[in-house]
Formats: sequence, C-alpha cells, structure tokens
Amino acid sequence: MTQPQRIVILTGAGVSAESGLGTFRDAGGLWAQYDLEDVATPEGFARDPGLVHAFYNARRENCLAAAPNAAHRALARLQAAWPDHVTLITQNIDDLHERAGASAVVHMHGELLRARCAACGACWDAPVRMDPGDACPACGARATRPDVVWFGEIPRHMERIEAALERAELFVSIGTSGTVYPAAGFVALARAAGARCLELNLEPSATAAGFDEARQGPASALVPAWVETLLG
Ligand code: APR
Repeated sequence: MTQPQRIVILTGAGVSAESGLGTFRDAGGLWAQYDLEDVATPEGFARDPGLVHAFYNARRENCLAAAPNAAHRALARLQAAWPDHVTLITQNIDDLHERAGASAVVHMHGELLRARCAACGACWDAPVRMDPGDACPACGARATRPDVVWFGEIPRHMERIEAALERAELFVSIGTSGTVYPAAGFVALARAAGARCLELNLEPSATAAGFDEARQGPASALVPAWVETLLG
C-alpha cells in the first residue's frame, strides 16, 4: 500500500446522481423544476413555509428510498483505510456517505434528515414529513425548519474546512458544478496551500481549469478506480 496522503474530498450532487437523487443544474435538474428563491431561501420560507416543507418532504422521501452507490462505497473504503488522513466534505444534504460507511462527514450545507427550531435553535431527527404547524419539542414554537443551509445563509464548519485545506496534499472534487461559493473556491485555497488538485466529474466543471487534472465520467466508475489506484 502506498503511503497515506492528507486528502480533502469535496462532493456535490453528482456523487448521488446514480443513486437516483436529482442534481440541481443538469438538464431537468431541481433548479429547472423549482424556483430556488421560493424553496431555498429564508425569504421564500417566510413567504410560504408550506411550499418549502413540501419541497424538502419530497426530497427526504427520495433520499430515504435511495441507496448509496459505488462512489459512496469507495470513499468510505478510502476513509476506513486512512482514517486520520481523509477529510470528507459534502455539499449534499442526503446521508448516502454515512449509509455507505463513512464517518465524520462534514455537511457544509446541513442535513435533510435533521430538523431545527428557528426560534430556540434546538435540533432533532426530522420526521419524514414536516409541516409548518409542527411544534418544537424543546420550546413549543411553531417555527420548525429543515436543518439545511439556504442561499443567503452561512455554510457550516468553514473554520474546520479551511484548516484541512491548508494542510492538504491532495484535494479531490467529485460531482459538483463548481458554481456555488464558498465550495467553488476550495480548489483555489488548496492550490495556494500546495496541494495537487483532481476533479472527477461527468463534464468539466466551471472551475475545471483550476485543477491539475480533470477526469470526466460517472462517479460510480471514476471514484472506485481512483481509490483503487491509491489503495491497491
Ligand atoms: N457522476 C459525476 N458527476 C455527475 C454525475 C455523475 N453520475 N451526474 C451529474 N454530475 C455532475 C454534473 O455534470 C454537474 O457538474 O455533477 C454536477 C452537479 O452540479 P450541481 O447540480 O450544480 O450540484 P452541486 O455542485 O452539488 O450544487 C452545489 O448548489 O443549489 C445548491 O445547495 C445546493 O449543495 C448544492 C449546491
């Protein structure tokens, strides 16, 4: 086995596409079907919480019906082999990395299967269907929301992510269009820190030119092949 390297991995919707979860910006993606201002902003939630809950209820049902694919499994295998060397960051709100066996997944955009109270900040496991009339189990306020990060809100765990990028020897971006910041800026931070940067995506992303190498293909093929070359 080759020597472990300090690896930071960033995943996006493309890693879950072959599990049947829709991406956002591909043809027919979620943002072609819904107006993101309506369903993924605090203002949209204030205007129509029922619509926002219905959107995330549908996504939660899809997520629970989906299974991890070969890309999720390969990343879990790499993390298990090199536990102190692999930081797995995802923009995805699904739990498919965890169900494939990954641990300590850094969910920078929150988690679909968790609920939060906008009044007191309490968090709990989300029921399959949430409703604006639900009461917070901690304070009773009828202000429950999915524990996800909407446009205009601050992504989670940024200090920890930036610290990992500063120490990275290898940065690998998988299945993300490279259009949403701050994640789209991680390749520049990793490059500045001296890391080699590899993109694995169906097509070149918006930031592909910033990587040392960009490989095109489905994550279920590219990711296991890449992990195999590392672990043998
Ligand atoms: N294998 C690899 N890549 C794929 C696959 C696949 N099977 N299918 C699609 N892709 C690629 C697409 O080519 C695209 O570049 O995955 C990328 C998905 O891009 P987006 O839909 O923009 O998803 P993502 O980059 O994760 O979006 C970032 O935007 O709306 C927000 O909060 C949401 O976390 C999300 C963020």
